[in-house]
Amino acid sequence: MQIDVFTLFPHWFDWFRGQRHVANALALGSELECVDYRAHTPLSAGQVDDTPFGGGAGMVLRVDVVEAALRARYDDDPVAVRERRRVVALTPGGRMLDDALASELAAEEELTLLCGRYEGFDERVLEHLCSDQISIGRYVLAGGELAAMVVCDTVLRKLPGALGHEESAHEESFSAALDGAPEYPHYTRPAEWRGWSVPDVLLSGHHARIREWRAERSRERAEPSGGASLP
Ligand code: ADE
Repeated sequence: MQIDVFTLFPHWFDWFRGQRHVANALALGSELECVDYRAHTPLSAGQVDDTPFGGGAGMVLRVDVVEAALRARYDDDPVAVRERRRVVALTPGGRMLDDALASELAAEEELTLLCGRYEGFDERVLEHLCSDQISIGRYVLAGGELAAMVVCDTVLRKLPGALGHEESAHEESFSAALDGAPEYPHYTRPAEWRGWSVPDVLLSGHHARIREWRAERSRERAEPSGGASLP
């Protein structure tokens, strides 16, 4: 998979690239590249944003700046680019990121992520230069960079080999393998700690019963109470 992130802070992604599952995905052939809006701005003094028409606080990322960066990267009219690869703007009001959307994105060969800053994007970026808008939650971040990392994290860990164990991304919370339910509880050694014991069935070695127990716990957690009642 080839991912381009458009941002004013490309160096933020240096740390992210070093994280194990990301580094694994990159070593296996995926690519994560950053494009700096400022490096392509047609305006003087590296200007990328401007005050909103109609007044109001904050600054808005300019459509001509975003267009210039996309055009420089893809050597094509960005309006055509969004027809052949998903160009996603990270916005608080966008489609909510969930496991199904992450799987949908992981099936793409190429992906473009546009990070906004300040008050966000000029609306014409969203209308004409993007194919999708994605939100990681109904709250406002200072910019789209952390949201882009969240998208990359959840997408890259779905690629074969990224986690080391093929199974681990398959049967996990909210996956189709669990009918979209949260994952069942996990335990490891010690089997007894301060009187808190591990359910017997998990120590029984009886795989069919373990599978059944896990499916039940997962279904319970999907109930409105979340199975989260305290003793
Ligand atoms: N940019 C600012 N806030 C955001 C959010 N919650 N999700 C995605 N992008 C954002």
